[in-house]
Amino acid sequence: MTVAHRFALGRPVDKTRRTGTARKKATNLFEGGGDLSHEVRGVVARSKKAPVSVEKVIVPDPARGEALVRVQACGVCHTDLHYREGGINDDFPFLLGHEAAGVVEAVGPDVTSVSPGDFVILNWRAVCGECRACRRGRPWYCFATHNASQKMTLEDGSVLSPALGIGAFVEKTLVSAGQCTPVDRRARPEVAGLLGCGVMAGLGASMFTGAVNRGDSVAVFGCGGVGCAAIAGAVLAGATTVIGVDLDSRKLELATQFGATAVVDASEEDAVEAIRALTGGFGADLCVEAVGSPQVFEQAFYARDLAGTVVQVGVPTPEMRIELPMSDLFGRGGRIAPSWYGDCLPSRDFPVLVDLYLEGRLDLDRFVSETIEIEGVEEAFHRMERGEVLRSVVVF
Ligand SMILES: NC(=O)c1ccc[n+]([C@@H]2O[C@H](COP(=O)([O-])OP(=O)(O)OC[C@H]3O[C@@H](n4cnc5c(N)ncnc54)[C@H](O)[C@@H]3O)[C@@H](O)[C@H]2O)c1
Ligand SMILES: [Zn+2]
Ligand SMILES: [Zn+2]
Repeated sequence: MTVAHRFALGRPVDKTRRTGTARKKATNLFEGGGDLSHEVRGVVARSKKAPVSVEKVIVPDPARGEALVRVQACGVCHTDLHYREGGINDDFPFLLGHEAAGVVEAVGPDVTSVSPGDFVILNWRAVCGECRACRRGRPWYCFATHNASQKMTLEDGSVLSPALGIGAFVEKTLVSAGQCTPVDRRARPEVAGLLGCGVMAGLGASMFTGAVNRGDSVAVFGCGGVGCAAIAGAVLAGATTVIGVDLDSRKLELATQFGATAVVDASEEDAVEAIRALTGGFGADLCVEAVGSPQVFEQAFYARDLAGTVVQVGVPTPEMRIELPMSDLFGRGGRIAPSWYGDCLPSRDFPVLVDLYLEGRLDLDRFVSETIEIEGVEEAFHRMERGEVLRSVVVF
């Protein structure tokens, strides 16, 4: 399986198309699912680059190890747009949406980690506990994360590929029970859900993958939802110089609101030179690439201090290439670290981050630029491309 596939789904998708009836029978006999499937509305990307549409989605009752979740809110992440553009893989049709919070409606047999009524954030890292990463005590790298084994389908039986193994622009979704992390229900769903992907990815890029320390200098390239979260994470972890870099002045204003101590407009000045000037001529201890661009990666590579770290969070498309002098790679030392989901562990990190939010120490409200209806996802993609929002959040 390619890396893009692993990032996208955790496990390969069985694309066999079956009718709803056949699927239901197989499920009930062998997996212990309930008798009912649920007809709900969801946002589907049917083919590459085509506008998304709201379609009828058939969601099976939960079988062993699964949970049915009534989605309350789901943020629009750039990764959803990457799926629609065919940038992740070609497993169309996709059920989009993956930054979500909701209430568990039903669980399959043997599920003990969550119960109906729990308020949960959905995650795409339901660790298996058994793979080589988990066995060696590094579950945030889990190589066999769990997803629901039953498939959600369109009315004609076409199997849907849920974005990041979740699929949450839908009134109800079916996930592995391990993909549900219960958190304090006083957090608003539209805010809590954002921890399910982009905001966690950004916070963790600084706090976990980048391992920011008190007194560090951090430069974040791309101040969208992910980049602003990386800025917030750097501040939480004690960085004293935090530089936001973007091409859009509106994003730089937001970067400042999240705690950036300086900003660089890369459409007007050389980002590498500007960051060196802001760090005593040396470069930053940590540079976070939160765009998904080879050019920006190169800037991040050269804008860091000797022995510094580059964390790559931005998702590349398959044709992207980077070319660097090997002597620069060696000569500058330090670390280059791609970061999936900020190397988070949902069961450890989501409840703590929600508590920090409720205590007023982590501003998650500011990420919610607008709340929209399920029909508004296509337009929200355009607003994201025009740079008008950090996060549009679908509320149900
Ligand atoms: N690794 C992960 O686990 C993970 C998780 C979620 C999202 N992502 C990825 O992170 C990236 C950012 O996501 P987002 O939701 O914040 O997207 P976004 O579109 O909201 O933000 C991207 C920002 O980059 C800026 N930008 C574009 N070109 C730039 C350049 N040359 N220099 C500086 N800034 C530039 C844009 O103006 C925008 O503000 C995407 O590629 C997304 O797929 C990764
Ligand atoms: Zn594992
Ligand atoms: Zn995402």
